[in-house]
Amino acid sequence: MKEREEEVVQALKEEVKSFFKGDCTGHDAYHTLRVLKTSLSIQRKEGGDPFLVAVASLLHDVDDYKLVAQVDPSDPFRNAERLMREQGISAPLQEKVLSIVGSISFKGTDTKAPLLLEGKIVQDADRLDAIGAIGIARAFAYGGHKGSPLHDPSIKPNPGMDFETYKKNRGSTVNHFYEKLLLLEGLMNTEEGRRIASHRTEVMKEFLDEFYAEWEGRDL
Ligand code: ADP
Ligand code: NI
Repeated sequence: MKEREEEVVQALKEEVKSFFKGDCTGHDAYHTLRVLKTSLSIQRKEGGDPFLVAVASLLHDVDDYKLVAQVDPSDPFRNAERLMREQGISAPLQEKVLSIVGSISFKGTDTKAPLLLEGKIVQDADRLDAIGAIGIARAFAYGGHKGSPLHDPSIKPNPGMDFETYKKNRGSTVNHFYEKLLLLEGLMNTEEGRRIASHRTEVMKEFLDEFYAEWEGRDL
């Protein structure tokens, strides 16, 4: 990255830290900073423009429907646009960032693949933060925030929900593993993403095996 680009990334990191202050849905600033680090690591293997990868990573959640009280449908990228304008990011780059941010979120079965390589990378990095040990922690934190039970053997998982059903879903957090987290490895866009996802998915499967063993008292 050019020196000026490094400065913008640094400034946006500070913005993001104050933006997500107090979040307890698993979308705190550290989530965004991990996505940034993972994206740049994937970018080094897969190519693409590191500055575009960095800006899109930093802004990928600032207009998320779960975090921002009221997303105005006529102005869906208000925060991202403001932050980029304030940093003097060029109009063509802003366009690319918004096309990435608009296409990466997982909403039930609605899995739009980003068109740009940089978007594929940021989407992989965001999904990688939802799996593995951190993914497990985030799932239970988010479930607690929403009031979901840890596990309820009487409710069966429902993979393949459309977006409306997914948003209203009141299932257990354990079901979320079958409805989303264990599916993410198969949705990775890049080779490097798949490599990292494979290990993190094994970690979750082991966790679930242990969880059921304890739940059923098989380890006693
Ligand atoms: P989504 O848009 O699918 O909710 P996010 O990446 O924004 O995806 O989700 C943020 C974090 O919250 C992720 O770690 C995700 O696994 C977790 N999460 C989302 N929905 C649920 C849920 N219903 N139960 C538990 N965790 C959830
Ligand atoms: Ni995210």
